[in-house]
Amino acid sequence: MDSAFKSVYQSALEDPETFWAQAAEDVHWYRRWDRVLDDSTPPFYRWFPGAQINTCFNALDLHIEQGRGEQAALIYDSPVTQTQRTFTYAQLRDETARFAGALAGLGVTKGDRVIVYMPMVPETVIAMLACARLGAIHSVVFGGFAANELAVRIDDAQPKVVVSASCGVEVSRVVEYKPLLDEAIALASHAVSHCVILQRPQALATMQERRDKDWNQLMSTAEPHDCVPVAATDPLYILYTSGTTGQPKGVVRDNGGHVVALKWSMKNIYGAEPGDVYWAASDVGWVVGHSYIVYAPLFNGNTTILYEGKPVGTPDAGAFWRVISEHGVKVMFTAPTAFRAIKKEDPAGNHLQRYDMSQFECLFLAGERTDSDTLHWAENKLGVPVIDHWWQTETGWSIAANCRGLGLVPIKEGSVTHPVPGWDLRVLKEDGTEPKAGEIGALAVRLPLPPGAFPTLWNAPERYVDAYLKQFEGYYSTADAGVIDAEGYVYVMSRTDDIINVAGHRLSTGAMEEVLADHPDVAECAVLGVADALKGQVPMGLLVVNAGCDRSEVDIVGEVVQMVRDRIGPVAAFKQALIVPRLPKTRSGKILRGTVRQIADGEEWTLPATIEDPEVLEEIADALLRAGYPGSSVTVE
Ligand code: COA
Ligand code: AMP
Repeated sequence: MDSAFKSVYQSALEDPETFWAQAAEDVHWYRRWDRVLDDSTPPFYRWFPGAQINTCFNALDLHIEQGRGEQAALIYDSPVTQTQRTFTYAQLRDETARFAGALAGLGVTKGDRVIVYMPMVPETVIAMLACARLGAIHSVVFGGFAANELAVRIDDAQPKVVVSASCGVEVSRVVEYKPLLDEAIALASHAVSHCVILQRPQALATMQERRDKDWNQLMSTAEPHDCVPVAATDPLYILYTSGTTGQPKGVVRDNGGHVVALKWSMKNIYGAEPGDVYWAASDVGWVVGHSYIVYAPLFNGNTTILYEGKPVGTPDAGAFWRVISEHGVKVMFTAPTAFRAIKKEDPAGNHLQRYDMSQFECLFLAGERTDSDTLHWAENKLGVPVIDHWWQTETGWSIAANCRGLGLVPIKEGSVTHPVPGWDLRVLKEDGTEPKAGEIGALAVRLPLPPGAFPTLWNAPERYVDAYLKQFEGYYSTADAGVIDAEGYVYVMSRTDDIINVAGHRLSTGAMEEVLADHPDVAECAVLGVADALKGQVPMGLLVVNAGCDRSEVDIVGEVVQMVRDRIGPVAAFKQALIVPRLPKTRSGKILRGTVRQIADGEEWTLPATIEDPEVLEEIADALLRAGYPGSSVTVE
């Protein structure tokens, strides 16, 4: 089939309002928009002003009206608890309506915030959809974050209610959430009125009288609540993501543009038709989980899979193939790191022989660069197209992809293919001009961003402008550097800020540095992402200790590792640090993190012209050599 990609891309570029108005016909509205795009206050743009919509209605009730009530909406597959449960659209709507009633009974109304700090259980999806049903704004916090991170989010979002569970279940341990929640509430200045706690049998939570409510008890008496119409431009959720400091950014998603864009993406990017089984193996705490475990598949009438397990160890490296064959998954989405984990344990792909994968049609990867070994391994073993696509928490859906629903174009290794319709992506040089095709620069998107992308940051419109829109006037800076070649293929190379990607999880090295700097023996520090065969990157700390400190490196490193775990969480995977005599800096005092990373990773590197004292790099290279980093034998000329 010839791809319709080019003509569709062109029509979205030339007349975005007509393009998105047509896509919006596929969505249920209580009231239609006054205009498609409000561009009267740049750089702030709003899609579908004047329209009234409900996100939960579009995810559930609409399908029941259209005859899909008995189709499976959600399959919960949990190898860690050996449980499976299927919810039809009718059942999921009923549970959601009842939980919306329960939240309303606790005083939650339109515009109120609700924090959801939950493991990968169906109640998490129900809580999110129940908020949407009421027009309340949910903010899901990933379970691998520590109490301190949760407290920061409580203070910023100021929720009326927190929905949580007694525990999460990891491969080798049960993680009790309730003590973390209690600690976070104690740390936060904002007072939460109520917590709703799902008691899981793996660990029972101690409840605080009056404040804490038991999920099951509340549900047993709650009345179902109807969908509350909200403005298309009202916020649906806030999702905090790492910024350059310890203060995360509250990415806001609106209701109307989000439904339109995500429903369009299911058909046109993923090629998923209503009724197909679609699986995003991620966590609801990340944007991939929001968009492609919960919202998009449900907007599109798919069956979505909620998988509480890992690619390996639950129980083996055949876990993904089991889920695909058992539930008839057609399209899957995960991070390359998951495939690296499987490849490491089962390089020959022996587990595949045990499963019927005949229904499986396509694998999508995102979250980090797909290395060519992983790409080829997946292609060879699965025998289906493997599509790398690129997006960010801020964008909510992909900026560049090979749009399967429009007909795949040839794949180029290392490329995320073309900008998706709606995204006017450019490479820009520092002076804001475009380089020749194939030359590297900052990847930036011409404003307005399409529907579904973030219209602002929660309570921080100035930060929205400063962080994303100031660098190049009229453009959104993605903070990724990259290339667009002469055929329009996009290559995403690296972040231009201090964000690193650890197992597809986005983390701020700046936030980790803030923690290390609090250690009493640390005078100065730097954190950088070094290459890791499984997780892509892992953080590594360089510590300069105070003059006169004679404590052992093992003790100090052990303490800072624990501090990061306690303050940011296990998800940071911060396990390595070295004590060095000095940090390498430019004459203006900027730490040369990039050069140290190149040395540690064994890449070629050149001595920066701006370096203050070249000998410092020699000392660092020695320290890295002693610690066993591959490239540490490089010496400074
Ligand atoms: N609640 C509590 N703790 C959690 C958690 C959660 N929801 N999720 C992860 N953690 C903990 C882990 O137990 C681990 O703790 P440890 O240091 O005590 O071992 C730590 O956080 C790091 O977790 P993770 O990065 O997931 O590493 P892992 O070694 O447990 O697993 C992979 C590695 C590659 C198997 C796993 O990261 C994976 O499946 N990733 C692929 C898909 C994905 O989710 N991508 C995200 C965006 S698409
Ligand atoms: P997050 O906001 O957690 O989704 O992380 C977004 C960041 O992950 C991007 O800015 C990129 O740096 C990186 N990323 C996501 N997808 C890809 C991809 N397909 N290729 C390269 N980097 C990616």
